Amino acid sequence: MIIKSDFLIIGTGVAGLSFALKASQMGTVSILAKRKACDTNTNLAQGGIAAVMGEDDLLEYHIRDTLDSGAGLCHLDAVKTVVESGPRMIEQLKLLGVPFTSQVDHPDLPELGREGGHSHRRIIHAKDMTGQAVQKVLGEKAFEDPNIKIFEKHQALDLIVTDAGARRAVGAWALDTATGELLAFMAKIVVLASGGSGKVYLYTTNPDGATGDGLAIAWRAGAQISNMEFVQFHPTCLFHPQVRNFLISEAVRGEGGRLIDQDGESIMKNHPQGDLACRDVVALAIDTVMKKSGVDNVFLDITHKPSDFIKDRFPKIYNTCLSLGIDITRQPIPVVPAAHYQCGGILVDINGRTTLNGLYAIGEVAATGLHGANRLASNSLLEALVMADRASISAGLETKGLKDLGENVSLSPWANGRLGTAPSEAVLITHSWDEIRRFMWNYVGLVRSDQRLLMAAKRLELVKNEIDDFFRNFEVDADLIEVRNIAVVADLIIQCATLRKESRGLHYSLTWPNRDDKNFLRDTVLSNPAPIILPERLSAR
Ligand code: SIN
Repeated sequence: MIIKSDFLIIGTGVAGLSFALKASQMGTVSILAKRKACDTNTNLAQGGIAAVMGEDDLLEYHIRDTLDSGAGLCHLDAVKTVVESGPRMIEQLKLLGVPFTSQVDHPDLPELGREGGHSHRRIIHAKDMTGQAVQKVLGEKAFEDPNIKIFEKHQALDLIVTDAGARRAVGAWALDTATGELLAFMAKIVVLASGGSGKVYLYTTNPDGATGDGLAIAWRAGAQISNMEFVQFHPTCLFHPQVRNFLISEAVRGEGGRLIDQDGESIMKNHPQGDLACRDVVALAIDTVMKKSGVDNVFLDITHKPSDFIKDRFPKIYNTCLSLGIDITRQPIPVVPAAHYQCGGILVDINGRTTLNGLYAIGEVAATGLHGANRLASNSLLEALVMADRASISAGLETKGLKDLGENVSLSPWANGRLGTAPSEAVLITHSWDEIRRFMWNYVGLVRSDQRLLMAAKRLELVKNEIDDFFRNFEVDADLIEVRNIAVVADLIIQCATLRKESRGLHYSLTWPNRDDKNFLRDTVLSNPAPIILPERLSAR
């Protein structure tokens, strides 16, 4: 079956939904969600949105903090554009009805939160459920909009790219995971807003769906990729045998939480910014303590704050921990670092345009140059909002005068294809998945070396060949699509990390422990030497 619209968006987080609500003023919109529309990283975001709203704050301060965190690799135009648009984006969300915490309703709570690397209080939040509040409002509006159709349980597989004249993305193949039907979604503009890739690592704060699909899809289609070596590890993921990906927001440290070791000693006491140093610094300090003393976790202690304040400011964290037997008003919280955010991604310009015609990328999947070598906390929802806004204007202009490009593409051999709803050899896929996540954690995690990267590359080569084999010979189902994507993302991280022979921001190498501005004050950019036009498995049918 072929489904046509003016805009096709892959992903239903803050970037995809904000783009959709703006693009629907200019044409018809299809959005693909591989699970439910609310199963996104946005929905889990606790901290908030950084924007200059405080009386003592200035745009210059936010720009400077972002540049400092990015360790020399931020693009000044992207930083300025995003930071300067922040207050306008917050006003738009307020008008749509997002219930940010305000002192009118909560006189005891700070309206603006603070997180690591920020010199001023500037995090707009809805207590510790900011992402959920934004997701709910944008999602409701998108479901109500007659020009937007959301296809849940539709998993994008690969882009449809014309090779007549200039290569151009004109749609995407997607699997209806409920029925196994293969669909062709054709559009004048395709937007990847599919989020990040935390599931490449054994421990992550991300939801199960964060398998780097958009990144892998763009890579296979020939779009350039940048800075994938910069994977941000959040210092404080809850350490608990039953719950693997629950974040303890940096806002807890913003309100005075202290990181302590098993003996109760402050971990960050010798750093000038203390517990509010940038994430790369804090995560590495925790990793060093854990490796030196051989312990499984450290602790985050907020017990010195009044119990009512903690319950009111952090209701989600308080209740989740309490349900696991940890009363955070009286006990320190066991925490470990975990993969949290992909700072690199699909290379885009300041309007979200990738290097492949017709293809835009916004949100975590994209590399705008805002984050450089380390993202400043709570700059990501902000970036997603600003880039969705800019991309919608640019894409809207681009569609004017474009005829329906889908007409020129022959889909006949594949358009009625069926893939699968269940794997024929699930154990093989699960094993490949576990193997990749484990060696990425051990060899390509917080601390790397040339030797570790080489070992990871060798292992990945074997697993990738097996996965390619499965893809050719097995029934293709949702898990196989994800593991195929994870393997591509792992490969891109290893390739980028291998090229950067220095330590900078989130990339720390034992072989190259120093920063080398002479040779590496630049982005890492990869181009696929052999992009595909059609998915190999499908073209073989
Ligand atoms: C947090 O709440 O610590 C996460 C915020 C972010 O990743 O920007």
